Amino acid sequence: MAKGRNFLKRVRILVRLAGLVSFVSGWAPFWAQSTAGPGAPNTLRCEYMEDPLGVDTTEPRFQWVLEHSDRGEEQTAYQVLVATKPDVLAQDRGDQWDSSKVTSDESTQVVYAGKPLMSGRNYFWKIRYWDKEGRASAYSKPARFGTALLKSSDWKASWIAGAGGAAKGNEFRKEFTIQGKVAGARIYVAALGYYELRVNGRRIGHNVLDPAWTTYPKRVLYSTYDVAPALKEGPNAIAVMLGGGWATQEVDGSEVYYKEPAVLVQMDAELEGGKQVNLISDGTWKSAFGPVVESSVYGGEVYDARKETPGWDQPGFAETGWSAARVVQGSAGARSSQMMPPIRIVDEMTPVKMTTPAPGVYVFDMGQNMSGWARLRLEGPAGTKVQLRYAELLYDNGMINRENIRAAKSRDIYILRGGVEESYEPRFTYHGFRYVELTGFPGTPSLDSVRGEVVHSAVKSIGGFVASTQILNDIQRIIRWSQVTNLMGVPTDCDQRDERQGWMGDAQATAEEAMMNFDMAAFYTNFIRDIADAQREDGAVPDTVPLKYGSYEADLGWQTAYILLVKYMWEQYGDLRIIAQNEAGLKKYIEYLCRNAKDDVFATQLGHEGDWVELARTPHDYISDFWYLYDVQIMAGLERALGHEAEAQTYGKLGQGIAAAFNRTYLHPETAQYANGTQAANAMALFLNLPPKELRDEVGTNLMNDVLYFHDTHVTTGFIGVKFLMPVLTATGQSDLAYDLAVQTTYPSWGYMVLRGATTLWELWNEKSGPSMNSQDHIMFGSVGAWFYRALAGINQPDDGVAYRHIAIQPHAAHGLRWASGTVKTIRGTVESSWSRDAQGVTLKVRVPVGADAHVLVPGPQEMTGPTVEENGKVVWENGQYVPGDAGITGAAKEDNGIAFDVGSGEYSFRLKGE
Ligand code: BGC
Repeated sequence: MAKGRNFLKRVRILVRLAGLVSFVSGWAPFWAQSTAGPGAPNTLRCEYMEDPLGVDTTEPRFQWVLEHSDRGEEQTAYQVLVATKPDVLAQDRGDQWDSSKVTSDESTQVVYAGKPLMSGRNYFWKIRYWDKEGRASAYSKPARFGTALLKSSDWKASWIAGAGGAAKGNEFRKEFTIQGKVAGARIYVAALGYYELRVNGRRIGHNVLDPAWTTYPKRVLYSTYDVAPALKEGPNAIAVMLGGGWATQEVDGSEVYYKEPAVLVQMDAELEGGKQVNLISDGTWKSAFGPVVESSVYGGEVYDARKETPGWDQPGFAETGWSAARVVQGSAGARSSQMMPPIRIVDEMTPVKMTTPAPGVYVFDMGQNMSGWARLRLEGPAGTKVQLRYAELLYDNGMINRENIRAAKSRDIYILRGGVEESYEPRFTYHGFRYVELTGFPGTPSLDSVRGEVVHSAVKSIGGFVASTQILNDIQRIIRWSQVTNLMGVPTDCDQRDERQGWMGDAQATAEEAMMNFDMAAFYTNFIRDIADAQREDGAVPDTVPLKYGSYEADLGWQTAYILLVKYMWEQYGDLRIIAQNEAGLKKYIEYLCRNAKDDVFATQLGHEGDWVELARTPHDYISDFWYLYDVQIMAGLERALGHEAEAQTYGKLGQGIAAAFNRTYLHPETAQYANGTQAANAMALFLNLPPKELRDEVGTNLMNDVLYFHDTHVTTGFIGVKFLMPVLTATGQSDLAYDLAVQTTYPSWGYMVLRGATTLWELWNEKSGPSMNSQDHIMFGSVGAWFYRALAGINQPDDGVAYRHIAIQPHAAHGLRWASGTVKTIRGTVESSWSRDAQGVTLKVRVPVGADAHVLVPGPQEMTGPTVEENGKVVWENGQYVPGDAGITGAAKEDNGIAFDVGSGEYSFRLKGE
């Protein structure tokens, strides 16, 4: 008895202690964290962003991820509360919106339906849900979203440019007085160019190269900052540095958007007591020429630190020599909030090596090809001129090789202030490089003199893939690097030469890979709007978006990016709104295609790319016809998603006609080859399931023969064909061959690039280093990254699957692999598939988010007789039969390549054994 009391006492003390710990640290004791039943939802997002500040739609959409301690669980109802103040929300009240209990399983696209939102406000929200048994979860932690300027009439500011025309006037300032205490303040900034914003001497935000590039005359993006903490009662100063960016960059001989950069600034503040203080850019601002004496995207920056004027960004500065800023027309286009991850410095690289290939020439090796710039630390006499030149390659003698960056000057020059130690990094340019050459350095630099600042759109990593064959992990690593270094507000082809454009073919080919590795929802939402802005009246979509390089009447493999990206947004995130918003534009695009076709065959020669950078040429008319058919089929699917059945049928019929004509025109039934029988040709036809049934296997065999026998397990495709080659080989029973291609290390292959030292993907299968087109950082061959997740790890959605409501786990345990593992934080939650095999059998660990179900194939050899499957030690398959009773599993069946289980949400660990 006494013993029992003592025990209870100890427990009570422990509980109290834990309570104290949790009170002090904010952490719940471990046993309180795993409460049974529905857990509070997490990862709350508004318009795909966590706690965004710049929501500029009146009907934002909410997303959240569900938690539950049990398997096979889902949401049957939800309640969203949106409040104007955190303390109102803390009382479980939504004074802005209380959805009350809504019967729905929707957790990815819930549209705000409360009182009208106001511009420039903060809103606080949380969510709870009810599970299958009708049990309510706790409320989530509060999240927040802020609105930007919801009406164009909210804008009062004028575009201003520097006093001295194009070359001068890259600093602006405005002083003002605040009489009272600041309760809240936002600044909205847009630029035709790049800007840096400062308030009272403080840099505001962490965005660089902001705002993202758009078709400026049609639309500019603005960023929203909370500046209340930087403002004070009394005199204040807003200051802006401005560089030209894409607005003034000459690209491929085309006309520049603007002759000079311009900026648009508006501050809306509220004082305690409700008084409004507004400040706008106008002719009362002052401008002067600052230390950035030259800047351009391709050329780099020249910074003369002697021209700095300390205090210029603070109140009380004597504006001697400053003149009035000029109000200019700027862009008359729409002003949209930049609702996507901004470009930021996301990492810093320490050089792995410094060499001195010539006296006074120091070359730093970052060990990684990257996008961004170098940061320099140095000390020396005033006026010393130091130069940084960037390169992807070296000559044998150790000097940098810049032949492949073509006309881009890609260099930064820093002129020292003198005296104490100085630090410099450019602001208004970026470079693609692995090597930095430093000349003019006062004294001898050390490894610590230079750092590499990694700069790109700060998309979150959401995926991981790893496998037992190291070369696959190496390829995965270089794909991820190539992907992010080619996200600069728009998806680019490369980051180093005088190009860096939003090439549409590259974008479509790699979007699925990007979406498995990174959270691309907001980024592509923005880019699709960019595409719509660039679409021509007749429906044509250009080569690049924004259009600067290339032209209209682009190759269809480039134009198709419009419809493909919309389709992927639907598949990955369940984004119906983006289909609806683009329906008219996409219809126009399909009509444009139809006008270029004759008798259901695409008959016009557009563009010049075909299966770009291929090794065996596939006829361009064939490839165009493929896109014509595919795009029409996709359009039918998008109309179906919208519930427009009649349109879906019309496009469906059109597609059938094109498919029939496709076979009539390009299929050679006697040889079972499409067009000229290249890998690309047969793979693309198989991808759309075009061969008649009786020829399907034979076309597949032809494809296999071409890869295996005629090319000794090598690709001959370009980047268009290879996107289809890998999934098609896998779907036609040749996953071992696809695997062999993926791990190939002789030319041409991804592995060859890795073995030749690539740290990002090359533009060509060939290794080149001369002045021809051969970027060392192109993402376009990266489509194989999607295949890693889908084929090797096995993370798929069934055909027509949307937003991972239904999942198909289907790993292909290819012959050279012992194990593979993939994890993707999807819009619905984390999906995982990890398998391994040993002499006794196969283990498969699977994670299915709450609200989803999955068809899970536990792979087993076909010849295996009488396999047994256990799940967490419980027998679930025996003697050729499903053994019911394990929580979460609803059924099982034998399939060709293993035993398949239907499961609800939860984590499972299957073990298949057999003789
Ligand atoms: C770009 C490619 C692009 C191609 C199409 C090249 O210059 O770098 O990635 O897709 O042109 O013409």
